[in-house]
Amino acid sequence: MQALRDGELVAFPTETVYGLGANAQNPAAVRKIFQAKGRPSNHPVIVHLDSPRFLPRWVREVPEAAMRLAERFWPGPLTMVMPRASNVHDAVTGGQDTVAVRVPSHPMAQQLLTAFGGGIAAPSANRFGKLSPTRAEHVREELGEQIKVILDGGECQIGLESSIIAFQGQSVRLLRPGAITAAQIREVIGELLIGADVESPRVPGGTSSHYAPTTPMTIVPTGEIDARAEELSEGGRRVAVLAQRLPLKGHKYVTWINAGRRPEQYGHDLYTNLRTLDKAGCQRILVQDVPEGERWTAIRDRLLRAAASVSDADDSGSVAVLP
Ligand code: TXA
Ligand code: MG
Repeated sequence: MQALRDGELVAFPTETVYGLGANAQNPAAVRKIFQAKGRPSNHPVIVHLDSPRFLPRWVREVPEAAMRLAERFWPGPLTMVMPRASNVHDAVTGGQDTVAVRVPSHPMAQQLLTAFGGGIAAPSANRFGKLSPTRAEHVREELGEQIKVILDGGECQIGLESSIIAFQGQSVRLLRPGAITAAQIREVIGELLIGADVESPRVPGGTSSHYAPTTPMTIVPTGEIDARAEELSEGGRRVAVLAQRLPLKGHKYVTWINAGRRPEQYGHDLYTNLRTLDKAGCQRILVQDVPEGERWTAIRDRLLRAAASVSDADDSGSVAVLP
């Protein structure tokens, strides 16, 4: 792919979300990603490969457990953070001693990676802190002016970012939940710690304010969703609702999306639904709390982060970003 070789950015589909790619061996090209996203330059990015055979180029020492996970889950929505090889640029790793790698399964991502023949550094193709794109048009709307090439591979099959795990000494830690669950990983490697500790590498998607719509968002206990929508919409204020069922009655001034009760479908649609509600001109987005259980873990994680990024203190529609 010539644009990548020329140091240009290429947005491409993966099975999780769209990525904003650059030649991972060209630091100037990787810096363009940060500029386009408005992302702080010390945040590391994932290196995408077409197959595990290129791992030794990027990773100093591939843990045996990582090999087993690669065999089981690659190509697929699992990112592994491992010790970096000496020639990996600081622009990719944010200056850390580790590098994150993933082999995506989307056929168009596979084609691009195979044709390019190297590693493609790619974060999600959205402005920093905003919702990840799951359709080419999301990328075009948000970053279109800054990207020469946007490959359109239709809607992303999973719709939520990959699971990220980090190898630290003898332990393995889940830094970001995704479609590959902790239980699935434990089946292959035994023990898996959950969440970052102070020693863990930085995960900006792991800061609490992230993956956020512009409209303030609140998570509401399941039984209260109709009452809260009714209450907030009194006096003509417009309210957006993301629920798992239809409203009990017709509410005035309420835009209501029934995202259903199946976690795969809910996750697949989540970012598109939040984008739709964000554009509905509402003062607040209310989200019906999702069920407990592992299949909802990644969804719950993204909802909590999206809700954390705005102040609950006012209903003016203004956005207050947490420190
Ligand atoms: O599904 C995905 O992972 C998508 C697609 C495009 O592959 N990519 C994605 O990239 O979500 P991004 O940059 O939006 O999120 C990747 C996360 C970031 O929070 C980043 O900090 C973390 O991975 N990360 C990257 N390199 C790391 C490293 N060396 N150590 C710890 N975290 C790292
Ligand atoms: Mg992202």
